[in-house]
Amino acid sequence: MLVQDFIPADIEVKTDQGSASWRAPSNIALVKYWGKYEGQIPANPSLSFTLSASHTHTTTHFKKRTEQGEIPTFDLIFEGKSRPDFHPKISTYFERILPYTPWLKDFHLEISTENSFPHSSGIASSASSMAALSLCVLEMERVLYPSMTDDAFLRKASFLARLGSGSACRSVEGPLVSWGRHEKLSGGSDLYGTAYGGSVHDVFREYRDTILLVHKGQKTVSSTAGHSLMKDHHYARQRFSQAHLNLTHLIDILKNGDLEGFAQIVESEALSLHAMMMTSIPYYLLMKPNTLAILEKIWEFRRDTGEPLCFTLDAGANVHLLYPASGEDKVLQFIKNELVAYCEKGQYICDQSGQGAKKLGSAV
Ligand code: DP6
Repeated sequence: MLVQDFIPADIEVKTDQGSASWRAPSNIALVKYWGKYEGQIPANPSLSFTLSASHTHTTTHFKKRTEQGEIPTFDLIFEGKSRPDFHPKISTYFERILPYTPWLKDFHLEISTENSFPHSSGIASSASSMAALSLCVLEMERVLYPSMTDDAFLRKASFLARLGSGSACRSVEGPLVSWGRHEKLSGGSDLYGTAYGGSVHDVFREYRDTILLVHKGQKTVSSTAGHSLMKDHHYARQRFSQAHLNLTHLIDILKNGDLEGFAQIVESEALSLHAMMMTSIPYYLLMKPNTLAILEKIWEFRRDTGEPLCFTLDAGANVHLLYPASGEDKVLQFIKNELVAYCEKGQYICDQSGQGAKKLGSAV
C-alpha cells in the first residue's frame, strides 16, 4: 500500500454528528523502534507485545461545524479535567492526518480520555492514547464511508496512529505486532502495524509483563528528541542492521519457544536502545541506579533458579519483567521479596500480552 491509498474518495453518506468510544492498549517492543525518517517512517522494523491492563479509553463526539476551518476544532478532557497543555500534540496530530481524513475539518470534536495506569507513572501513554483517538476518528469515517472493510479499518487506524506517535501503530491489534519492512515478514509495512502472522509457540501465550515503576517523574529527553539524535549518530547504521538481525532471530525463537534465546535478544535490544542514548551527541541517561540494581537482581535470579525471566526497557527508567504464565507465582514472590524495594512507592503493574483494541460503543 502507498500513502496515497489512504486518501478517501468522495463521502458516501452525509452525517452531521456521531460519537465513538474505543479502548486501546499500550505495547512493549521486543525489537525496538529507535530512529525515524520524515513522515514517521521507522529507520528499522520493530516487533512488540500488545499489552492488556495498561490502556487508554477515549470517547469522541463529532459535531458538524457551522463555519469551515483549516483543521478541526476540539475540546479535550483528560481524566475529568480540561487539559490545554495537551492541545499542541493533538493539533499536530490533526495537521498530520488531515490529508487522509479531509472530512474532519468540517467537525468539532469533544474528546474525553483516561488511562488505566496512574498518570505520570513513567509509562508512555502516547501509544495507547494516539491509537484510541485514531480508532475513534476511523469509527466516524466508517459512518461516512460504510463500504469500508474491517481490514481497511484496522489498517488505516494504525496508519493514523503512527502519524500521532510511531509506536502507537502497534497498539491496534495483538498479541504480537510488527511495524516496518523486513525480509522475513510478508506484508510488513513502514506505514502501519500488522498483527504478527508467523507461528508462535504456546509458551508465549498470555506472556506476562510486570512493569516496575522505578521513576515516575517526567523524562529529561523525550522519545521524539531521542529519535532525532539517531540522524547523525555514529552507530546508527550498525544499530539499524542489528535490529534487522535481532528480528530475524526472534522470528525463529517465537516459533521454537527457545526462552534462553528470547532473553538474549530482548535484553540485548533494551540495552542497545539505552546505549544509543548514552552515545548520542548530546549523550544522556534515562536509567536510574535502581534500574541497574533490578537488572543485576534479575540476572542473579535467573542464574540461581533457572526461571526464564528477562527484562526489557522502553525510553525511561522503568523495568518490564517478561516471563511465561507458568512462572507467575515464583516471579511475583521474587518481585515482592527483592524488587519492590527499588520501585518508587513500591509500585508495579501486573500486565500481560493482549488481543488489541476494543470498540466500546458508537452512535450516529
Ligand atoms: C523506545 O513512538 O514514543 O518505546 O514516534 O516520536 O512518538 P514518536 O516516538 P515513540 O518512540 C518509542 C520508542 C520506544 C521503542 C518502541 O516502542 O519501539
